[in-house]
Amino acid sequence: MGRKEQIIEALGLYPIWVSKNRANANSICADTSEIGNKSRPKIDLENDHNLIEQDILNCKSCVLHRERDKVVVGEGVFGADWFIVGEAPGAEEDSRGKPFVGAAGKLLDAMLQAISVDRKKNAYISNIVKCRPPKNRNPSKEECLECRPYLDRQLDLVAPKIILAMGRIASNSILDIDQTIMNLRGEIYDYKNIPVIVTYHPAYLLRSPMEKAKAWVDLCFATEVLADKKNS
Ligand code: URA
Repeated sequence: MGRKEQIIEALGLYPIWVSKNRANANSICADTSEIGNKSRPKIDLENDHNLIEQDILNCKSCVLHRERDKVVVGEGVFGADWFIVGEAPGAEEDSRGKPFVGAAGKLLDAMLQAISVDRKKNAYISNIVKCRPPKNRNPSKEECLECRPYLDRQLDLVAPKIILAMGRIASNSILDIDQTIMNLRGEIYDYKNIPVIVTYHPAYLLRSPMEKAKAWVDLCFATEVLADKKNS
């Protein structure tokens, strides 16, 4: 058994299957032209990232700044193909200042590893809101809106080829809609000509492991969408 198969088995995601006719999925991605700054020097991107970080550190736009320990800006590779967006930092993220480093983060890393995505190599990970909501409550719509300009700036900076939105809040917030994950899955959405794919949040998958197979389908779908985008 190869390494990838071992990971998939460890996740309890067997049997591996890929849905039919994904290429014909009802796409609402308007066009595939690229935005971005892949030709910008790394130092430039790092400077811009530092500026975003400074702005977030100084941000008092919503109540979340009051109880945060560390701001969780995001981490990964500038110019990465993948941009993974979660909801909000939890306790572990708040104390370490890094996204998805708790139990849900470990599952996320394993899921991503199964499709050869790695935050140190070809992905950038961030959240809709950068400060932990007290007692891990959901961020409010207003808090998501206040934080949105930071996410937009990060997306401009990273200029990914695909966005993977983890869970209902991240998906609804980035797409500015109000839908269940069940209704959103299996379609290609658009953020400034970047395809957005929606899947379950890893924290939900920890509570509902039977749904992991659906998340696996979503990840396979996302890799196909990315491959199509690169070939077009
Ligand atoms: N859940 C999220 O949505 N983001 C994190 O960074 C951690 C847990």
